[in-house]
Amino acid sequence: MSTLTYLKNFIRDKNVASITPTSTFGVKKVCDKIDFKKRNVIIEYGPGTGVFSKYLLKKMSKDSKLILIELNKNFVNILHRIRDPRVNIFNDSAENVLNSIESAEELCADYIISGIPFSFLTPNSKNKILHNTYRALGNGGKFLVYQHSNHLKEHLKSHFDVVHIEHEFRNIPPLCIYEAIKR
Ligand SMILES: C[S@@+](CC[C@H](N)C(=O)[O-])C[C@H]1O[C@@H](n2cnc3c(N)ncnc32)[C@H](O)[C@@H]1O
Repeated sequence: MSTLTYLKNFIRDKNVASITPTSTFGVKKVCDKIDFKKRNVIIEYGPGTGVFSKYLLKKMSKDSKLILIELNKNFVNILHRIRDPRVNIFNDSAENVLNSIESAEELCADYIISGIPFSFLTPNSKNKILHNTYRALGNGGKFLVYQHSNHLKEHLKSHFDVVHIEHEFRNIPPLCIYEAIKR
């Protein structure tokens, strides 16, 4: 059902940018960078049908919070089927992450996960998202980004203090996974 939903939305909305959801290999490799033993505020940009969101909710503590920011209204309707008091859903752009944190009554995030297609964004929009993401994270917070290419490294380096890169070749197409840290 998820793949068919993706395909339909991919055809109608260029921002979806993928015909299938991220594989379990990809989801686990990104989420391995999260310390689930403590209370976390986790934000997800572009959750789509919620492959990451559902995994995160299984791993997160009962007092953690998950803030989902999704631009596509069809996906937002699907995400609303998740019945969990830890979830806050916003039909908005990642550019407005600071408003979403405020509406969710939090001060900052521990982790921000993103699968939005940065290569499709205008330079202005890309910079706004990276700038506001840095502001939205607390000290030691991590921005975890998965993309299908290596294009984001220099942009991340110009906004974050430390940037690591890994790959997940079992995802089709392979994923480039960035871990950008705010010291
Ligand atoms: C490649 S899909 C990833 C979906 C899902 N997270 C996954 O891993 O399968 C990109 C998602 O980002 C959303 N998106 C694109 N631009 C966005 C933006 N500026 N703000 C929030 N979501 C955005 C799309 O609607 C889509 O759901």
